[in-house]
Amino acid sequence: MNKPALKTAVLGLGRIGWAFHVQQIVKQPGFELAAVVDPLAERLREAAAQFHPGACYTSCEALYAHQKPDLVVVASPTSFHRQQVLQAFDHGCDVFCDKPLAVSLQETEQIIAAMQRTGRKLMVFQPHRVTPETCALKAIFSDGWLGKIYLVKHSVTNFIRRCDWQAFRKHGGGMLNNYGAHYIDQFLYLNQSKFRKFSCELRAVATLGDADDVVKAVITAENDVILDLDINMASAQPMPPWYIAGSCGTAVYEAGRQEWTLTYFEPGELTRIELQSGLAAANRAYSSGETIPWKTRIIRNQDYPAIDFYEKCREYFAGDRAPFVPVSDTHEVMRALFECRRNAGWDE
Ligand SMILES: NC(=O)c1ccc[n+]([C@@H]2O[C@H](COP(=O)([O-])OP(=O)(O)OC[C@H]3O[C@@H](n4cnc5c(N)ncnc54)[C@H](O)[C@@H]3O)[C@@H](O)[C@H]2O)c1
Repeated sequence: MNKPALKTAVLGLGRIGWAFHVQQIVKQPGFELAAVVDPLAERLREAAAQFHPGACYTSCEALYAHQKPDLVVVASPTSFHRQQVLQAFDHGCDVFCDKPLAVSLQETEQIIAAMQRTGRKLMVFQPHRVTPETCALKAIFSDGWLGKIYLVKHSVTNFIRRCDWQAFRKHGGGMLNNYGAHYIDQFLYLNQSKFRKFSCELRAVATLGDADDVVKAVITAENDVILDLDINMASAQPMPPWYIAGSCGTAVYEAGRQEWTLTYFEPGELTRIELQSGLAAANRAYSSGETIPWKTRIIRNQDYPAIDFYEKCREYFAGDRAPFVPVSDTHEVMRALFECRRNAGWDE
């Protein structure tokens, strides 16, 4: 017998609530758009006309006075997340929360403690886990062509004079919180190792507010892989988006063609070289003179289809599958944001 659809309420009808969550919920089997909440009446009217939710409310208090959703999707500005997640748990609802889970590590730990106390389910939306780009990268990480990967350089560049709530520190804005939450999670997902060392610089350059729009972070994982992350929203020229180096080769990304070029060798094909023991370099040569038998492999994103995130939601919230984004990963990402901010001298 089919399970009844999850009665789902969406909090916040902005960029992500409107363009992604509501659209997914109305089209995905297993979900019913029971309610939408937004303080802006015109957004509720727009949602009523287009998506026909069960009900529209201007506040969460009004929602819980009338309904008990199975699942609450939190897509409001980040500074509301903690209070709205705790409120949902208190009303017996599970929560699918947009990233970042909260504005601080302290708030994150309060949320996780409440999740454990109430026995509710919680998962954070991390869409960069499911893109073809990440699925192709997952294959590059697991298939071993590059040998032992030791460095991941990832750059995201643009020039934006930021002027919305994301421009303000008091609202939990800034590009470390905003994009850092994506790319640090993506690295954690690909590399499957917690973090042990953080170095970070933050600047507010092109933004009209006081929150960071330039992030330079170097994060070392417990397995010694280094993430060198640039999020630069004050850059007139793009930086190369990806450079991934391993002991046997390197991968670079061609964003236009959506493909990865791997240059690598098979260790068994290298010639044998003796390590010199003396202090006079043999033949006054600067290198061994060997020719590396380089191979090239092209990995195309199109061969790695995107994963459907709401299917992962259904498996977790309506079924008994483990969460696609475990809360332990969310804690690790939020710890990384905290440590980066602290290292940069932009304490919470
Ligand atoms: N996963 C992603 O790719 C992605 C993309 C964009 C935003 N986000 C995250 O989603 C959240 C929302 O960001 P956005 O860009 O959609 O913001 P937005 O400014 O576009 O929209 C926010 C919406 O929330 C409403 N709102 C304000 N106060 C509210 C409250 N107390 N309760 C309910 N709704 C309220 C606003 O009226 C507005 O409609 C942020 O945490 C952001 O980091 C994630």
